[in-house]
Amino acid sequence: MTQVEPVRSRRLAWWGAAAGVLIALVDTTVLGWLGTEFRLSGRDVSWLVATWFGGTLGLTGFLLGDAIEARRGERAAAKALAAARLRVAQSEKLAVLGQLAAAIAHEVRNPLAVVRSSAQGLTETLPADDVEGRRAATFIITEIDRLSNVVSTLLAFARPLRVEARAVSIEGVIDRALALAAETLAQKHVRLVNRADRALPSVRADADLVCQALLDLLTNAAEAAPGGEVSIGAVANAETVEVTVSDNGPGIPAAMRAQIFEPFFTTRTDGTGLGLAVARQVIEAQGGRIEVSDGPGGGARFTVVLPREQAAMRRREAA
Ligand SMILES: Nc1ncnc2c1ncn2[C@@H]1O[C@H](COP(=O)(O)OP(=O)(O)O)[C@@H](O)[C@H]1O
Ligand SMILES: [Mg+2]
Repeated sequence: MTQVEPVRSRRLAWWGAAAGVLIALVDTTVLGWLGTEFRLSGRDVSWLVATWFGGTLGLTGFLLGDAIEARRGERAAAKALAAARLRVAQSEKLAVLGQLAAAIAHEVRNPLAVVRSSAQGLTETLPADDVEGRRAATFIITEIDRLSNVVSTLLAFARPLRVEARAVSIEGVIDRALALAAETLAQKHVRLVNRADRALPSVRADADLVCQALLDLLTNAAEAAPGGEVSIGAVANAETVEVTVSDNGPGIPAAMRAQIFEPFFTTRTDGTGLGLAVARQVIEAQGGRIEVSDGPGGGARFTVVLPREQAAMRRREAA
């Protein structure tokens, strides 16, 4: 996790000082207009008084601004600390859940394979006219395949993450994720719109892991908007490249947005609740982040932010 050193700004303090000086000048001028004379041994010392007022009020303004700034800084630091604590607690939870998931998955994998091959064998021995029997065997096989898929996801989730970040073309990763998602998108009759800018700068990332995360997002989008539209976009910023996956499904209620990244949180009857937990884990492991917002078409929009290769290189050199 990157720890950001809070940079103390004194902007408010200087504004405070400027306001103090201004008030002093205005006060002295108004007093002059009202007929007040500032004289010392017969000489007009209005400017001396104005400077004195300016100095004291300016200093008061500076100190006041500085105190407000310090208070704000403390509040921001406390907030960052609370967020960091939450992250640590969550990654510990993920680690324990991961171990548990791996243990269960290992136990389940072999019996599943046995059941599948038995069902397969059964179909071969059934008479050709036993329609009911064949249908039942096909159900068994399809459901076993689905369960195996869940088991594989669990194992992928539990495996310790190895990130091999290097300079990669994000366009290449997007094209690969789209090719892998093509079947799911077609099954859900989803129209795909690719709005990604071309000639994007390289990002520093592990291409396989980013592809996996994008695939999860595309699958979720297709599941949320069957028969609808899913669009993928990509733009470059000064330090990052942002990839967005949007859909025109029902969207995600604001109250649910914090929960959807929790492992095993799902609202789908056949969901595992691991897609977004894994996606977030792998993107953050590469120094990126993943965010959710309202999509332009009323559905959900997920944004994956990855560091640009050049920015990452500058940071490495500075370290
Ligand atoms: N594009 C989306 N539109 C609406 N809801 C979504 C979308 N993506 C994710 N969600 C919500 O987040 C939950 C968690 O997603 P995920 O972690 O991928 O698990 P799963 O897909 O197995 O349910 C989903 O069950 C769904 O409620
Ligand atoms: Mg999912």
